[in-house]
Amino acid sequence: MTKMTNPENFRDKMTKIKNWQSRYSENIKNYEGYPIGKTLKFLADPEIISLAGGLPSPEVFQKSEMRTISERILNSDIEKIMQYSAIPGEQSLGDAIVDFLKRDDIFIEKKNILITTSGQHGLDLTGRLFLNPGDSIIVDRPTFAGALVSFEMQRPEFIGVDIESDGSNVKVFRQKLKELDKQNKLPKFIYVVPDFQNPTGITMSYEKRLQLLDLSYEYEIPIIEDSPYRDLRYYGEPIPSIYSLDQKRNDGGGNVIGLYTFSKIFCPGLRVGFNIGPYEVIEKMTNIKEGNILNTPKYNQDMCTAFLAEMDLDDHFEKCKKYYREKLQVFLKTMEEYFPRETGVTWTTSEGGLFLWVSVPEHIDTNELFFEAIKYKVAFVPGEQFYGENPAKNHMRINFSFSTKDQITEAIKRLADCIKPLL
Ligand SMILES: Cc1ncc(COP(=O)(O)O)c(C=O)c1O
Repeated sequence: MTKMTNPENFRDKMTKIKNWQSRYSENIKNYEGYPIGKTLKFLADPEIISLAGGLPSPEVFQKSEMRTISERILNSDIEKIMQYSAIPGEQSLGDAIVDFLKRDDIFIEKKNILITTSGQHGLDLTGRLFLNPGDSIIVDRPTFAGALVSFEMQRPEFIGVDIESDGSNVKVFRQKLKELDKQNKLPKFIYVVPDFQNPTGITMSYEKRLQLLDLSYEYEIPIIEDSPYRDLRYYGEPIPSIYSLDQKRNDGGGNVIGLYTFSKIFCPGLRVGFNIGPYEVIEKMTNIKEGNILNTPKYNQDMCTAFLAEMDLDDHFEKCKKYYREKLQVFLKTMEEYFPRETGVTWTTSEGGLFLWVSVPEHIDTNELFFEAIKYKVAFVPGEQFYGENPAKNHMRINFSFSTKDQITEAIKRLADCIKPLL
């Protein structure tokens, strides 16, 4: 992954311990954290239009409703809010989640839910629970960089398979499993983002979801279904979640662990999410949460409960969809205008979510392009960060949800000015 900082510049010369490195754990010694986070620090100049972060638009935050609800929660429950709270999560939020998931044909009980301190925490618990150094996991190429960087802390081996326009290449997943089974080295799990994947925006077809479950049943491999974007569908019909399909096909389910977050559908600032799955897995994840962060702040959970239980969710999602759909349209139209076919620049389209994947001719390294683009006051995330192994260098992730429509148009114009001389 890209090195964006030089630790020498930050080393504390006062320490009496000369060799900190030798004291670090084997898992963390060579661990460099989240490359996207480091990328963002180059974007301080307010004139830069950033298509880099995965930020939802503040335009769709329910600000006035939340001010009112916040005041009520603080007035009625301030002593409890200032106190430690239950580690698995608030009962009221559990109830609201049970109801929320019914909308999506998922039927679980509260014991199948662990409240997490956001999606990234849900990933962390997953990695800690399942992975020993050297264990393998199957992931798409590319896949969500935050998942890779979270799992990386346990030093697994990523078995990456190029994603197709209709989602994971399940045929190649099968071949890999067959080979690994022969070596008695079956992967610990398969990680996918089936709806509007981060970073490509690709959605997995219905058939592939079923085939993936077949693999899970045949080889007894859990599927980790990371699902922050399911409710943000701007076109087409929803495809059932893998979790719900497993429940239907497999007598109530049990092979899929679902990772959810409120970050993209409500707001990321409260850092609340939830993992769902078989009780024994959730219980074990709860034990890990006991040892890493204890409870998720009660106030933040109460705000999420109010979002689910008191707000008109259909209305909220309709607003989000209309707003983001328009931005997506502007992005796609402007790309066509500035990058005609002969430029060799291509991009995915998506039916939802927040991201698209732009590919430039192979001779352009988007890590270098990133710094060139900064000079043109536009930014994206270099694609290399989304590969567990053997990264491709000529792609970039762009976010279309945060910038205004005018900014999106201007950003693409700047990108074209930056890229065209290199073609
Ligand atoms: C696929 C996926 N999983 C998990 C997360 C992490 O979510 P959170 O911001 O709630 O930690 C993200 C955020 O971008 C994501 O895209």
